[in-house]
Amino acid sequence: MKEKVGSIRESLNTDIKEVKTIQDIVELKSKYIGKTGLISELTKGMAELSIEEKKEFGMIINELKNEANSLIFGKEEEINNAILNEKLNKEAIDITLPSKKIKRGSLNPMTRITEEFEDLFVSMGYTVYDGPELETDENCFRKLNLPLGHPARDTQDTFYLKDEVDEYLLRSQTSTAQVRAMEDNTEKGPIRIVCPGKVYRRDEDATHSHQFMQIEGLVIDKNISMADLKGTLETMMKHVLGEKTEVRFRPSYFPFTEPSVEVDVTCFKCGGKGCNLCKDTGWIEVLGAGMVHPDVLTMSGYDPKVYQGFAFGTGLDRMAMFKYGIPDIRTIYGNDLRFINQFDRKDEE
Ligand code: PHE
Repeated sequence: MKEKVGSIRESLNTDIKEVKTIQDIVELKSKYIGKTGLISELTKGMAELSIEEKKEFGMIINELKNEANSLIFGKEEEINNAILNEKLNKEAIDITLPSKKIKRGSLNPMTRITEEFEDLFVSMGYTVYDGPELETDENCFRKLNLPLGHPARDTQDTFYLKDEVDEYLLRSQTSTAQVRAMEDNTEKGPIRIVCPGKVYRRDEDATHSHQFMQIEGLVIDKNISMADLKGTLETMMKHVLGEKTEVRFRPSYFPFTEPSVEVDVTCFKCGGKGCNLCKDTGWIEVLGAGMVHPDVLTMSGYDPKVYQGFAFGTGLDRMAMFKYGIPDIRTIYGNDLRFINQFDRKDEE
């Protein structure tokens, strides 16, 4: 009996070293600890033994059984762990791999150019002022020195809800902000604003759209002169179109400014030498400006003997077309991604 126990123990110890798979474990279980396994066989042989011997061998067999159990089940756990680890390793996510690119949208050129103007003027102490697109005839024309029937109204072929007398219209110029800013200022003190926004006129061709964007500037203070206007516009044009840009004033007429000027910049394409863009003149007309007309100041409650001001207005679409070389204004408002995607954010990063 003792010999048998010893040889079973020995063969178990060699067998266990050979175990590699779960199938090997299944076989070992049935060979040693299963119902018909070697250890059960030993128990059967105990029937013929005396009570004393039964006790002795019972203990020995139990010991062997416990040993076999812990060896086999221990090995089984080892194998299961190895299988699990291998699985975990295989399924692990490598966080160092590059991620999928998230497609980012891009700003419309109009948004970009508007923000460029706003940033500059805010840095010079201006406030960005907002006004409604649906306006009164009074704010759009009358308080800007364009009474009913004034011939200069014709240049802004306008969308009226009914007619001129009936008040409401889609604003044809952001100069409405001049009136609104002056009237809002109840203390009748200094003003420094820019007002970007949509305006509407009954136009439509490659360089004109029935709806476009303007940005208006208004400064009201004591001792303001044309020199301040020129310095401001020079700073503005250099900022937007490049340091080499020069600015020139030509006399012009707007009912709400006196004197009025038409402002040209040196052609940024040819640098002023003359090319197809500037029609060989070296200059490009970009905006209208002037000193706020005393009557306009008076109509909105300012004393022109104390306060002066300058105002300017420019088409943001036109500026974007120049800056980005866009030949047709209508592409700005179309939804063609081939156009929009050219204005990605690479240069902002
Ligand atoms: N509002 C004018 C226009 O749309 C531009 C302008 C603004 C002129 C301010 C002078 C002063 O043509």
